[in-house]
Amino acid sequence: MRRSLLFVLLALLPLGLIAAAEVPPALDIPTTEAPTAAPQSLDAERVKRGNAVYDRYCISCHGVEGDGRGYSAPWLDPAPRDFTRGVFKWRSTPSGSLPTNEDLMRTLTVGLFHTNMPSWGVLGERNLRDVVEYLKTFSPAWKEQAPAAPIQIPAEPTNDAVSREKGGEVWTRLACASCHGATGKGDGPSGSTLVDDWGHKILPHDFTRGHYLKCGDRSEDLYRVFMTGMSGTPMPSYAESLSPAEAWSLVHYVQSLVHEEP
Ligand code: HEC
Ligand code: HEC
Repeated sequence: MRRSLLFVLLALLPLGLIAAAEVPPALDIPTTEAPTAAPQSLDAERVKRGNAVYDRYCISCHGVEGDGRGYSAPWLDPAPRDFTRGVFKWRSTPSGSLPTNEDLMRTLTVGLFHTNMPSWGVLGERNLRDVVEYLKTFSPAWKEQAPAAPIQIPAEPTNDAVSREKGGEVWTRLACASCHGATGKGDGPSGSTLVDDWGHKILPHDFTRGHYLKCGDRSEDLYRVFMTGMSGTPMPSYAESLSPAEAWSLVHYVQSLVHEEP
C-alpha cells in the first residue's frame, strides 16, 4: 500500500502536483545533536545502503554525481540541489557551516513546500539516515570540516500587539522589504533581480500566501531562518544585527503578514 502510494507520488512529481498539494506532516524527530569538533569519518555500511536508496529515489532529480543534474532537473524550478559544493540552505548551524544530521533529517522528513522536493518520511528513519550519510560522499567539504554547534533558540515570548509592532520596526530597520516587498508579497524592488550561487534566478519568499515556509511552519523555523541565513541564496543571516528578543518580534510580525490561508 505504502509502496504503491509512493510510486504514484513519484509519477506525479515532475508535474509539480504533489508539491503544491501536500501539507508538511507533523515532525517527530529529535532536534538536538552533540556538536562535533573534528570531521567524523563516514559510516561505510550506511553509505553503502544509502547509495541504494539514493539510486532509487533521488537520482532522477539530484543526478548520478549529486550535482543536481538528474534527468528531471531541466523541468524543475527551483532546481534540485547540487550537493557537490557542500552548501545547504536549511541548517540550524551558523551561516557558512555544514548542516547537522538532524537538519538533513528534518529536510527529508518535512520536505520542501512550494517546490518539487517532497517529504520522504514514507521511507522510514533508517533509510533516511542511510541516504543522509551517502549525500556526504558528494562533497569534500564533509572531510574537511564538521558542522558547527546549532544556534540556541530561546523560548518563544507571547505573540501580542506590542511584539508585532516591535517586529515591524525591525523589519523596516533591516530593509527586509527591499527583497520581500512592503506587504511581504516577495515583490520588493530588488526581488526580481536576484540569482543564487548556482546562477539560477531566485525569488524572495511570499509571506502573504499562507504561513508555510519551504521547510517547516513552526515559529522556531522562522526564527532559525533569520539567524542562520540560507547559504547559496541572497537570503542573509541576521545573527549579527538581531537580539533574540528582536528576532522573536520579527517572527510575530512576519506571521501577521499572512492574508490567505494555505
Ligand atoms: C522530484 C525531484 C526531487 C527528488 C526525487 C528529490 N529531490 Fe531533493 N530537492 C529537490 C529540489 C527541487 C530541491 C531544492 C529546493 C529549493 O532549493 O528550494 C531539493 C533539495 C534537497 C535538499 C535540501 C538541501 C539544502 O539546501 O538544505 C536535500 C537535503 C535533498 N533535496 C535531498 C534529497 C534526497 C535524499 C532525495 C531522495 C530520497 C531527494 N532529495 C529527492 C528535488 C528533488
Ligand atoms: C537580498 C534579498 C533579501 C533580503 C534583504 C531578505 N531576504 Fe529573506 N529571502 C530572500 C530570498 C531570495 C529567499 C528565498 C530563498 C529560497 O527559497 O531558496 C528568502 C527567503 C526567506 C524566508 C523563507 C525561508 C524558507 O524556508 O522558505 C524567510 C522567513 C525570510 N526570507 C525572511 C526574511 C526577513 C525577516 C528579512 C529581513 C530581516 C529578509 N528575509 C531579508 C531574499 C532576501
